[in-house]
Amino acid sequence: MSIRVIVRLAAALLAVAGCSALDLQGSIARVDPPARLQFDLSLVRKGQLLAAMGNCFSCHTLPDGQPYAGGVPLRTHFGTIHGTNITPDPETGIGAWSQAAFARALREGVSRDGHLLYPAFPYDHFTHLTDEDIAALYAFLMTRDPVRSEPLANHLVFPLQFRPLIAAWNALYVRQGPLSRQEAQSDEWNRGAYLVESLAHCAGCHSPRDTLGGEKRDAYLAGGDAEGWHATALNRQSPSPIAWTVSALSGYLRTGLATDHAITAGPMQDVVRNLSRADAADVRAVAIYIQAQMTPPNVEREAREAASRKKAAQGSLMVVQPLTPLPVADESVLALGATVYANSCAACHDAGREFSSNTALRLPLAVAMHLSDPRNLVHIIREGIEPPDGQTGLWMPPFEGSLTDEQLTALVIWLRRQCTDAPPWTDVAGAVKQVRSNP
Ligand code: HEC
Ligand code: HEC
Ligand code: HEC
Repeated sequence: MSIRVIVRLAAALLAVAGCSALDLQGSIARVDPPARLQFDLSLVRKGQLLAAMGNCFSCHTLPDGQPYAGGVPLRTHFGTIHGTNITPDPETGIGAWSQAAFARALREGVSRDGHLLYPAFPYDHFTHLTDEDIAALYAFLMTRDPVRSEPLANHLVFPLQFRPLIAAWNALYVRQGPLSRQEAQSDEWNRGAYLVESLAHCAGCHSPRDTLGGEKRDAYLAGGDAEGWHATALNRQSPSPIAWTVSALSGYLRTGLATDHAITAGPMQDVVRNLSRADAADVRAVAIYIQAQMTPPNVEREAREAASRKKAAQGSLMVVQPLTPLPVADESVLALGATVYANSCAACHDAGREFSSNTALRLPLAVAMHLSDPRNLVHIIREGIEPPDGQTGLWMPPFEGSLTDEQLTALVIWLRRQCTDAPPWTDVAGAVKQVRSNP
């Protein structure tokens, strides 16, 4: 982050902090850890399904670490913040937290002892949770195995180590209180809206953020950033080459895969891993609500769908005729790109996806080709695809060791031209370099 942005950020935060009179919160008394048997089993089970919808595991569990014991580094523009220990260990976890303290953390972003929590913890979404759902989450976490695990130090840009500043952020961005029901919509739509807005916090990645890291409300689900990836727009600006149906979406959210659509990749893989353990009817409600945000498709999207299907039906990508030929100066780059594709990709991708073999989606149907920048495509080629649970055939090797930057750049330029009618990406070489140095 540049010095200018930091200075602007600090000035804005201090200005708001000054006028909104820092409302410091008190501490809530410690309690004895509640006995496991005190919780009703059906409540615990409900909490387990809700925790999966809320992705709690991912931010609070290290790979191969003890469940919910914390220590996960989350890299933000403002520094690195660690997911904390939320097992019921009374000293290093939340064992001494009453349900009231737990509810306050989720709704207001305040820890039991009164310190303000960083919004890397999505309490700006969890704030809309109902009392019943908070009780179920509490029952679930309080019946996990307690793990002793000290919190790790965070590394934040100056002056954000100073937690009271978060009060200013909260005043700007956190709207507490329940969501209002839309009477004109179905029960399932309303359930989906509640889950997406609160627990599932989809907009946390899929909406763009402003300089202070708050979600832009006027660009709801219009596409955002997550861990160096672009999180695709899920509103009417959806770049998907094929329009999403409710059944394709709910299948994708539970398995990571849908016929005619790209497989899940990057940070979304983890979201899907969690959703596969959530309640199936709830995931369908999410799909209903999200699909409604994407409709009705505009004329441009319908034309893109027809063109993508036509290109995919032509078989080999080598023979597809581009609509907008590049200037002649780039012929050698295109020739190199075509050669790399023929040698490294065609064997799997020209065949078209067969679910029982390891052949793969025809690339004009892959959403990564249709985005406004090439980051996701570069990530996928460099890192390959680990199949989602239960889809063992669908594996793609990583190419980071076998393609040079020059080859990768040429391939990406050529693929964009063969797969879409969109304008060429600018500075592909820069994106390749950025992904390599910032994996
Ligand atoms: C996107 C990552 C992310 C997700 C998802 C997430 N958390 Fe957290 N959570 C964090 C981070 C980071 C912190 C620590 C913030 C800080 O130290 O200021 C935190 C802190 C907390 C705290 C406060 C702990 C303390 O000691 O102060 C609680 C309670 C909590 N999370 C519960 C949950 C629950 C329940 C869920 C699922 C419904 C969840 N979290 C999902 C990132 C996440
Ligand atoms: C941690 C960040 C993150 C969260 C949270 C998240 N997503 Fe994503 N999502 C991504 C990224 C990054 C991509 C792009 C990579 C890919 O296509 O797999 C993506 C892709 C998708 C796609 C594919 C879009 C297309 O047109 O191909 C859908 C659908 C989707 N997300 C839905 C959701 C829903 C619904 C939620 C909430 C339940 C959600 N996501 C939460 C990061 C996230
Ligand atoms: C061994 C077979 C194989 C090879 C070789 C291969 N892929 Fe893939 N690729 C797959 C499979 C399997 C998938 C995931 C399943 C699907 O989408 O059908 C995939 C998915 C993709 C996706 C879509 C990912 C997403 O998020 O939707 C892109 C883009 C892609 N590959 C590009 C390439 C490029 C470019 C090359 C050459 C450098 C390549 N692949 C080489 C098998 C392969």
